[in-house]
Amino acid sequence: MKLHGNMSIRNNTLYIGGVSCTELVNKYSTPLYVFDEGLIRENCRKYNKYFKVEENKNKVAYAGKAFLTLYMCKIIKEENLCLDVVSGGELYTAHKAGFPMENVLFHGNNKTIDEINMGIELGVGRFVVDNFYELDIIEDICKKRNKVQEIYFRITPGIEAHTHDYIKTGQIDSKFGFVLINGDLYEAIEKLYKYKNIKLVGLHAHIGSQIFDIEPYMDEVDIMMDLVKEIKIKYNIDLKEIDLGGGIGVYYTKEDNPKSIQDFCEAIIKRAEQKCKKIGIKVPKLIIEPGRSISANAGSTLYTIGSIKDIKDVRTYVSVDGGMTDNIRPSLYKAGYECSVVNKMKYEKVNKVTVAGKCCESGDILITHANVMDIESGDILITTSTGAYGYSMASNYNKIPKPAVVMVSNGNHRLICKRQNYEEVINLELI
Ligand code: LLP
Repeated sequence: MKLHGNMSIRNNTLYIGGVSCTELVNKYSTPLYVFDEGLIRENCRKYNKYFKVEENKNKVAYAGKAFLTLYMCKIIKEENLCLDVVSGGELYTAHKAGFPMENVLFHGNNKTIDEINMGIELGVGRFVVDNFYELDIIEDICKKRNKVQEIYFRITPGIEAHTHDYIKTGQIDSKFGFVLINGDLYEAIEKLYKYKNIKLVGLHAHIGSQIFDIEPYMDEVDIMMDLVKEIKIKYNIDLKEIDLGGGIGVYYTKEDNPKSIQDFCEAIIKRAEQKCKKIGIKVPKLIIEPGRSISANAGSTLYTIGSIKDIKDVRTYVSVDGGMTDNIRPSLYKAGYECSVVNKMKYEKVNKVTVAGKCCESGDILITHANVMDIESGDILITTSTGAYGYSMASNYNKIPKPAVVMVSNGNHRLICKRQNYEEVINLELI
């Protein structure tokens, strides 16, 4: 198992952020999400530095869908990142945390009228407008409020990248954004002639998630810069901001070989400069929206091992006290994870087992082929890199309460989300 960030081994025991995992379990019980605050902050700082946020006035907006709580908003704010939200709930979280609304980008392919109202009322910096329906509603609400809202148009650039495959299809079959090749984007721009309460300041695209390859981003930069030029010539509109979305891949298992934040940022900036020089335009402000690459490796999940079922010559199932309710990614995407036993870190990994969750569902398997040391019921198993799309996609299936979340840093721990109790699980129900 790879040790990420501020993980270390002392006396056979795993420490995260200077805190022993067994101490955390004694205090908070399991299942438990543990976040390494130092690593989150380090990732934010790397993005700010290598994406030239101060120097070039570029922006890094953390994609809150990966993991967003009040405390996470506080960290993002303190690290001077912007925030990408995609729903009224995420916006509300940011608002309650006192996140500066001018630094919020509001995404979503079907924002409701209430959500749009809320965004305008709170004063979000940019709406990333996805479709004609939304455009009309924003204009209408802003007109009534006598306000001007700055927006980006989200476009479908015809590039799709997922981990290892990368397709340039010019495809238009996406629920997100304005299609380029059928003229929808131009129609939207033309609508703005009569819309006095909307100001178009930029364009946005997002080409996928968990991407290791830099090539699709280079194509994305080229397409976006060509558009900036074309829109200037055609409509005399200066697009000053270009948002390239998120998607930078991270390490989950040995099969993953991600680019460093530095390499990724430098490649994008260099390509944008080259392309703009070539086509004779000024380099716009660049925006990126990393989610996973800020929080994934910083988060881990601790479980208590319960039943161990050995089916001779077939498989050994090791069941833990969580599963698809706290990490849906293996069942949903066949995502791979690494694991270990936090109280036996120096033991040799001699056994091959399948780590199963506790849900009433055969597909509730966390790791199909896991190498582990000699284990017993009661041992504490850790799965690493669960910090993105883990807690944020957690559910109450089988009425299993959501785990607690703890931040660790410099030998200290702090509870940032309480464990749900049974009363809270049935809280919304009426009889
Ligand atoms: N910006 C936009 C517009 C997005 O749609 C996304 C992710 C991001 C930024 C952040 O992407 P990231 O840097 O985190 O890859 N639940 C899936 C991932 C879905 C990503 C959706 N959009 C998973 O667990 O792999």
